[in-house]
Amino acid sequence: MTAPLIDPFARAISYLRLSVTDRCDFRCVYCMSENMTFLPKRDLLTLEELDRLCSAFIRLGVQKLRITGGEPLVRRDIMTFFRGMTRHLESGALEELTVTTNGSQLEKYAADLAAAGVKRINVSLDTLDEAKFAEITRWGRLPQVLRGIDAAQKAGLRVKINAVALKGFNEDELFTLTDWCTSRGIDLTFIEVMPMGDIGNEDRFGQYWSLKDLRARLAERHTVTDIPQRTGGPARYVQLETGLKIGFITPLSHNFCESCNRVRITCTGEIYTCLGQEGHSDLRGPLRATEGDAPLEDAIRAAIALKPKGHDFDYSRQTVDGQVSRHMSHTGG
Ligand code: GTP
Ligand code: 5AD
Ligand code: SF4
Repeated sequence: MTAPLIDPFARAISYLRLSVTDRCDFRCVYCMSENMTFLPKRDLLTLEELDRLCSAFIRLGVQKLRITGGEPLVRRDIMTFFRGMTRHLESGALEELTVTTNGSQLEKYAADLAAAGVKRINVSLDTLDEAKFAEITRWGRLPQVLRGIDAAQKAGLRVKINAVALKGFNEDELFTLTDWCTSRGIDLTFIEVMPMGDIGNEDRFGQYWSLKDLRARLAERHTVTDIPQRTGGPARYVQLETGLKIGFITPLSHNFCESCNRVRITCTGEIYTCLGQEGHSDLRGPLRATEGDAPLEDAIRAAIALKPKGHDFDYSRQTVDGQVSRHMSHTGG
């Protein structure tokens, strides 16, 4: 029997987030600066290496695999990778294979994702207003994403919207978003904005809209009931009387690190055991060192032995504390 992956704080690691590219066809203002330098393509792990890496984690007890980016669906030939993972779903070793996407490529890939065994996807969408969408994503176009969401639903994928709660930006759309999701049978998760990477002139603190406030606003019009639902991620869920389920991801107003079950791998094979810390280890070297996976498994265990207790993001002193230097797109959130 292989020993499961347990970190120094007795947290079992069952969820792997794999970023398959740092590139993206959008430039969301809270995520990237306008001029980003991307990694040279030669530094990326190949699709075969990504497969080997994930297979090793699954052998070590990972049951949930989420593919992220950048925008994961812009990586060339990524469906080959997804199809490779189907065997782990079929064997029962992997419980869930899923993806977080900006939706731009879903029209093209939704059916293939469903065929590979993906049941549920998370789509980032902060506003339903075309002009505001173009403003927040810089390069994105709303109709393309909405067509992508249609395609996903048509392919039988369950869709959850991720909306970053942004003061003065989508506050006035709270009920537009909840009504739209209710009418489309889509779940919704709000995320507090985290201080990651230099994003140019944007004001992190000024953007921050606490989900405690958002929840109070929701309760002005709806009955908001806590429900025990869990999806393996950090969200805590409520349900409205309309049936809509809403997740809250609250790294700032309520830290959830004590129940952390996840690690992240970048497209070059760095492992980050905490989103909110700088520390990371290299898995590409051990992966490439031998054909067998023994050095890789040792390196994975060594990295997890260094997993920190949690992040230090903190806005409570009216300043942005605990910022990390890398952009969200580096580890895919
Ligand atoms: P579900 O499977 O639907 O629960 O998805 P998820 O919430 O695990 O994944 P998703 O990619 O949709 O992540 C939503 C947001 O949660 C992103 O902004 C992530 O950065 C954030 N997030 C996920 N895990 C962590 C975490 O461990 N710490 C912090 N601070 N944020 C996280
Ligand atoms: N803070 C919070 N969420 C962010 N995302 C990107 N950057 C940030 C940030 N600084 C979100 C995206 C996507 C998810 C993976 O992370 O909107 O839904
Ligand atoms: Fe886990 Fe770090 Fe996220 Fe906290 S901030 S939940 S420890 S990854």
